[in-house]
This record gives sequence, structure tokens and C-alpha cells, in this order.
Amino acid sequence: MTTLEVQGVSVNFGGRMALTDVDFGAVAGTVTGLIGPNGAGKTTLFNVICGLQAPTAGRIAIDGVDVTRLPPFKRARRGLARTFQRLELFGLLTVRENIYLGASVAKRPQPDAVTAGLIDQLGLSAVGDERTDRLPTGQARVVELARALATNPKVLLLDEPASGQDERETAAFRIVLQQVAEEGVAIVLVEHDVQLVMDVCSAIHVLDLGNVLASGSPAQVQQDPAVLAAYLGSVPHE
Ligand SMILES: Nc1ncnc2c1ncn2[C@@H]1O[C@H](COP(=O)(O)OP(=O)(O)O)[C@@H](O)[C@H]1O
Ligand SMILES: [Mg+2]
Repeated sequence: MTTLEVQGVSVNFGGRMALTDVDFGAVAGTVTGLIGPNGAGKTTLFNVICGLQAPTAGRIAIDGVDVTRLPPFKRARRGLARTFQRLELFGLLTVRENIYLGASVAKRPQPDAVTAGLIDQLGLSAVGDERTDRLPTGQARVVELARALATNPKVLLLDEPASGQDERETAAFRIVLQQVAEEGVAIVLVEHDVQLVMDVCSAIHVLDLGNVLASGSPAQVQQDPAVLAAYLGSVPHE
């Protein structure tokens, strides 16, 4: 079943269409890629899905329930979690405290155990007691992912989670992403690392100037002439 459904979403910023009639979906147990050049509307679509930006038109459903009019915290209760392109950690709190907050906000029965488990799974043991404003970006992104996972989400939106990560961190991130998908979470991945997207996503949607240019498997999207022209900045050879 489609866990997240986005139907006919448009966003108009004072006459400028950031999104035009966008249809999009994410299925439990899979990673769905959302790619496109800067300014395409990817972050705006995430903001609409999580309720930080009201759409001019369209509908959002989680597990078949219309959440279009719900505030962000009620969508979170229905299983929606996200990370931010510009990190939004509590900088003065430690890694452990940030993750614990995710677990306790979601009223997980044993927030301590949830936190300890995630610190272990995501390789954060060495920095558990560090303040998050002292971490390098790559590691801070892992903490944001851990905090999102601590809420036990059904739908997880990741906005450029690998940016600022080195190769080793990205390799570890890729494994975690696959583990989380296997646990049944519907993941949406916004990412500029095209190789990562092609490797982990079962479906990819390409946005350009607020329009869905193409949707399909990684192989289909990679061969789409409109995608090659707009996103990769080249035209296919005859
Ligand atoms: N709050 C806002 N007010 C006005 N314009 C915005 C706002 N947020 C984003 N935009 C514009 O909407 C377009 C899409 O931006 P964004 O969703 O951030 O794209 P992406 O994440 O794909 O780079 C851009 O032209 C951006 O300048
Ligand atoms: Mg963005």
C-alpha cells in the first residue's frame, strides 16, 4: 500500500509557482528518491508534506488518512518524521539528549532503551555525550537521522542527509537506510549524490521548476531525455 500519498499539490509563493500539480507517493519498505536541481521545489514539497507550508491546492494522505489540514505535530503522531537540509538539532543538548527527545515526544515506552539502541546502530557511541553544536556536519546529520528514527516513523523524509558526509559516513548511511527500509518504513530521499540515489531507491521522481519531469525506476529515469537535458545538463547521444 502507498503509505504516503501526495495528490495534485501546488504551492504559489506570491505569483511564483514553487510546485505545480505534483503527484507523488512512497511505499512502506522502500526508498523513493526525489531529485532535481536547486530551486526545483524538493524542500517545499517536504514542507507541504509535514505541514510547515500550506499548499495552494492538493491533498496529502498518510496510511489512507487525509492529513492536509492537520498541524505538523498531529502528522508526526500519525507516523511522519523528517530531517532538515539545514540541520535543526538542539545544539546545546548532547547527542543522547537529542535522540531521547525524539523517543519521548513520540511517547515510546522505553525511551532510554530506544536511544541506546540507536546510538549503537548508528555508530554514535563515541560522541553520545558531546553537544551536537560541536559535531562536524556529517556526524550531526547522523544524529538528526537517529532523532527521527527514535519517533518510530512510518514515513521518513530525508532532506540531503549525505551532504557534508565523507565517503565512509555515506557508506555507513547507505546501510542504515536499507536496514530502516527493511523494517517497513516508507523513506523519501532528497539527495544530490546521484549514485547513492540510484543504488538505494526503487522509484525516483524528478522535479524541475516545480513540475514532475519524470517518475520511474532508476533505469527508466536515467534514460529519460527530459531528465538528461534538465537535470544532468546534457542531451543523450543518438
Ligand atoms: N518561503 C518561501 N517564500 C518564497 N519563495 C520560496 C520559499 N521557499 C522556497 N521558495 C522558492 O521556491 C523555489 C523552490 O525552493 P526549494 O523548495 O527550496 O527547492 P529545492 O529544495 O529543490 O532546492 C525556489 O525558487 C525558492 O526560492
Ligand atoms: Mg532543498
